[in-house]
Amino acid sequence: MLAGAMSGRLVVLASGSGSNLQALLDHGDPLEVVRVVVDRPEVGAVDRAAAAGVGAAMVDVAAYDERTAWERELLAAVAAGEPDLVVLAGFMRLLGPEVVGRWPMINVHPSLLPAFPGPRAVEQALAHGVKVTGATVHFVDEGVDTGPIVAQQAVAVEADDTVASLHARIQPVEHALLPQCAVWQVQQRLRVDGRHVYTPTDAAAVTDRRR
Ligand code: GRF
Repeated sequence: MLAGAMSGRLVVLASGSGSNLQALLDHGDPLEVVRVVVDRPEVGAVDRAAAAGVGAAMVDVAAYDERTAWERELLAAVAAGEPDLVVLAGFMRLLGPEVVGRWPMINVHPSLLPAFPGPRAVEQALAHGVKVTGATVHFVDEGVDTGPIVAQQAVAVEADDTVASLHARIQPVEHALLPQCAVWQVQQRLRVDGRHVYTPTDAAAVTDRRR
């Protein structure tokens, strides 16, 4: 992206139904989803991409004996979109340094990290008996949901929640948080200092306290 152009090309990686992809597609300007990459066949995200007229590439993890070969293909599929930002929107695979280091990359996760990283976060939160969980958007590093946190929002756990009912309340939160963080990133409004990410919201809070 040209500095100051204030919009960005997004390549979105998905493994699931693609509701977070849909939120990015629906957001529109300044987010331009140019390509979707999935890691297995019959992923709902592919249909959503097609409906939006966005090209989708499938790099089927099952078709590769070696992880490095799969990752090389994945890298090529992402690079073909010439992204300003790569978004993991329900993408259920770890990525190595060549992919992670090459572009700014964010992920959405259905818990308040660092609690309950990895798959089945909603199930783990319920089993642990927490009263509050939520959604996190974070920069991606090579760990499992360990990168610097951009934004989080809490969701209360109800006594009669099931995994499905709790996830159903977390998802709309994700659908707002993820595009917001993507916009901040493509507009170069995030400042990263080690593990700390400062958003325009944080900056406003600091200004308020100084008044
Ligand atoms: C989301 O809850 C996301 O946080 C998690 O996987 C789910 C994907 O949902 N990593 P969708 O495919 O975007 O509907």
